Amino acid sequence: MIQGVRRFHELDPEIKKRYYTRDLISGFFLVSNFDLYRSAAASWRDTMGCVAAPDLPPPEQLPDATRDILIEYSKQVKQLSKTILELLSEALGLEPNRLNQLGCGAGQLLLGHYYPACPEPEVTIGVTDHTDASFITILLQDQIGGLQVLHRNKWVDVQPRKGALVVNLGDLLQLVSNDKFISVSHRVVPKRIGPRISVACFLRPLIHKGDTDSPPVYGPIPELLSEENPPVYVEADVREFMRIHSSRGLDEPSPLQHFRV
Ligand code: OGA
Ligand code: NI
Repeated sequence: MIQGVRRFHELDPEIKKRYYTRDLISGFFLVSNFDLYRSAAASWRDTMGCVAAPDLPPPEQLPDATRDILIEYSKQVKQLSKTILELLSEALGLEPNRLNQLGCGAGQLLLGHYYPACPEPEVTIGVTDHTDASFITILLQDQIGGLQVLHRNKWVDVQPRKGALVVNLGDLLQLVSNDKFISVSHRVVPKRIGPRISVACFLRPLIHKGDTDSPPVYGPIPELLSEENPPVYVEADVREFMRIHSSRGLDEPSPLQHFRV
């Protein structure tokens, strides 16, 4: 998959520009800094991707350089996410199927990032500090490094390991778990060597028109609530949640704040 992302980003710009758009919903896209007009700083990376579940775009709309592997990879991520959501349900003391039944992994946005070698990493941002809006994000990174998570107020390197995936807990999981799980702040610091390639799959509910008849609404899961554990969030329309998420700079506060009791 890493090679497939690299092949696409290293295509002739004349071929790549066909895919350049700021519309991240309708098909396969190439974008540089989706929050360019809202963030204080631009990120040192380009991103390709598409909505990969419930349905990928038709195969003929996917570039040759990455088509087959993208189809296979997103299928495998879907399988894996089912298992991870079962484990997370059990960790919350719920029925194993609970988070899958809630449709937490029914939708998937797949992004393939390309961080070029950076001549001045001291004054550059790879990806600014943020939490993901998803339930979980399954992240594949190459061997270059640069990903950091905030742990006890310190930035800690997530060392690349061959064959390993990183699973980030996102804001929507924090909301339905009523703060039992906290979404992780993370960022990417650029390096003098590169390019660095990573693939992020955001697992989230079905949110696009036509996917569902009624708007998807998520609140703290009732079984997790009691007198000692009252809800800390109101129910959130996920379309509204995502709209707030994507209408701000990545460096601004997460949409969770809007839905706190
Ligand atoms: C993201 C992200 C990290 C990486 O896409 O949200 O955090 O390693 N990516 O590229
Ligand atoms: Ni992220």
